[in-house]
Amino acid sequence: MIDLDRIRKDFPIYSKQPQLVYLDSAASSLKLKSVIDQVDSYYLTLGVNVHRGAYDLAYEATRLYEEARVTVAEFINAKNEEIVFTRGTTSSLNMIAGSYRDILKPGDEIITSELEHHSSLLPWMVTAKHTGAKLVYIPLNKEGRITVEAFQSVLSDKTKIVAITHVSNAMGFLTPILEITKLAHQKQAVVILDAAQSAPHIELDVQKLDVDFMAFSGHKMFGPSGVGVLFGKKELLNLIEPFEYGGEMADEVSKDIATWKDAPLKFEAGTPVISGAIGLAEAIRYIKSLGLNEMHEHTHALQKYTLEKLSQIKGVTIYNSSSENPVITFNIEGIHPHDIATMLDQDAVCVRAGHHCAQLVNKFLDVNSTLRASFHIYNNYADCDTFVESIIKAKNFFEGF
Ligand code: ALA
Repeated sequence: MIDLDRIRKDFPIYSKQPQLVYLDSAASSLKLKSVIDQVDSYYLTLGVNVHRGAYDLAYEATRLYEEARVTVAEFINAKNEEIVFTRGTTSSLNMIAGSYRDILKPGDEIITSELEHHSSLLPWMVTAKHTGAKLVYIPLNKEGRITVEAFQSVLSDKTKIVAITHVSNAMGFLTPILEITKLAHQKQAVVILDAAQSAPHIELDVQKLDVDFMAFSGHKMFGPSGVGVLFGKKELLNLIEPFEYGGEMADEVSKDIATWKDAPLKFEAGTPVISGAIGLAEAIRYIKSLGLNEMHEHTHALQKYTLEKLSQIKGVTIYNSSSENPVITFNIEGIHPHDIATMLDQDAVCVRAGHHCAQLVNKFLDVNSTLRASFHIYNNYADCDTFVESIIKAKNFFEGF
């Protein structure tokens, strides 16, 4: 059972801003005190580089950094050497799309979807341009979901890459990734999963999912910003070329040629995000202590409660009532989402308005912009009530009541 009073105390922003109604966790979650403490402690007591120094401080920093890798690996049921620390989901996905510039050929096909966040779409658009490969879109169903049947309709012998979101950041819809991966592998295609939105809410087991690569970020799961994870199957990480070059990733360097260390180090050029990795490991320990299923039960209940109230307001269009992730995407007739979001801010209600860096979703919905309220473990029913009251207040204001 989730103890909300205790949980709120774990997020120090509430002691500074007790009135805060934070409903923008899909953009970035609030940060845990224990994560901040771990990051702080690294800077206060160590603050040195990893993998390089032959002194105690460096050994201790390296131990903590590599321990963080183990924590992440266990969290998603991967091997340690399959975990690459990056600067976030965007950087993870760019690395993979960049590496595949050496592999894809004209005529090859990259399957993607209109649900993608730009970080899962634009790197592949550019890789397609560089290689002559072609982007192929899975037709979404009427609701805006990816279905297995629609995926099958675009899968072919030309498919080399399936770059797809696990959960849409704009709609919260869950992709049927198990079936898609199975089908993609029958064609020897490589599946790259954007798990930025699923990792903070859903149990991820890369053995079960069987995806080839997967990316997620620390900052959406109570961890620090500037750190992310790239999971890659060992044999694939060893096969592909790194996309960044520099310190600690090279094995042997001569004047004209260099060889690389084994994964994951060959993908971690330069000084890694040491404090970020240590902070992320703490966030994962916290999530495990609560249990993702218990967390989901709570956020799902809040989502359902809010949906019921919101749908009773005249002029409100909700685009994703059946969303699996705790995300409500909506519009209010005749009022620009940015105006609503600005009014909500006066009641300390934080939501996101705009295209959510997923412009193809808005094109699919045939709107310029939407409002998005997203929940996480620290939200309570009072937050939902304040949010709905604030929406009614803003609506009345703009309608001149
Ligand atoms: N990808 C983040 C969002 O959906 C930033 O808001």
